Amino acid sequence: MNLEDILTEARRDFAAVDTLPALEQAKARFLGKSGAITEQMKGLGKLDPEQRKEAGARINQAKDGVEALLKARREAIQAEELNRQLAAESLDVTLPGRGAGLGGAHPVSLTLKRIESLFASIGFAVADGPEIETDFYNFTALNIPDNHPARAMHDTFYLGDGSLLRTHTSPVQVRYMEHQKPPIKIIAPGRVYRVDSDATHSPMFHQVEGLWVDRDISFAHLKGVVQDFLQRFFERDDLTVRFRPSFFPFTEPSAEMDMSWNGGWLEIGGCGMVHPNVLGHVGIDAEAWQGFAFGLGVERLAMLRYGVNDLRLFFENDMRFLKQFA
Ligand code: DAH
Repeated sequence: MNLEDILTEARRDFAAVDTLPALEQAKARFLGKSGAITEQMKGLGKLDPEQRKEAGARINQAKDGVEALLKARREAIQAEELNRQLAAESLDVTLPGRGAGLGGAHPVSLTLKRIESLFASIGFAVADGPEIETDFYNFTALNIPDNHPARAMHDTFYLGDGSLLRTHTSPVQVRYMEHQKPPIKIIAPGRVYRVDSDATHSPMFHQVEGLWVDRDISFAHLKGVVQDFLQRFFERDDLTVRFRPSFFPFTEPSAEMDMSWNGGWLEIGGCGMVHPNVLGHVGIDAEAWQGFAFGLGVERLAMLRYGVNDLRLFFENDMRFLKQFA
């Protein structure tokens, strides 16, 4: 076979296969032990030295040609295989997902929504304030000056630059009254933080603060509002509220609020008449205006309403728990 024919045949044979193993077999017919090119090489020995040199060069050229064809075909086959694989494994990201479920609101969020809508129905607006607070708003403006023992009861997270994580929602009272003139009728729901963690305490939890300031607000209004709210929140007309004398620096007089529950009493928050010093800090004339304030624990209300016995369940984000509220 002359060298021209060998190249023509190699081109044809390589084009005829479309897998790498088949290409290797085709290669052997030209470059293998008894392949066409190899046979040509063997024939060189019979030639005299002058001819051998020239023929050797031509054979090598042909061999390079076959190898170039082989390389080109090998790369083409690899590219085809890659394309086939990509096509087979491709994902259509526009298809709808499998098993896509509907999410649901967290039980604490559901509780906050319920609280807001019940208070809205009797005319309370929603106010909010920063979770990173200053010492002034969290304590001083609430009549808790430096070195007051009440500060020690708050287990405060201090942030080092003079600010702190608010330990209660009461500072929102101050911030709101700084900018709004009475009459004022707000609740302030939100996150609060304390250095505390066990089955009934979490370092982050939620409170809802209430504040109603007007000309003739009394303890009777306070009790009426809280009891009405709790009756509707728990859907129990027979629920009653009891006040126990207590102390908060920002209210005078102050009380602890209990509600009737399963034949006994459960503590659900603190309350009182806004202290004249607090009104004074925000420039409201305490002779002309009075107000009540209260603070309720949101997780506490959620636990009672849903029958949850461990506060930590709210924050572990275990789907088996959360799904029950969807
Ligand atoms: N801020 C209090 C606390 O976190 C709760 C509280 C008590 C709020 C009495 C009030 C109040 O507004 O009048 O312990």
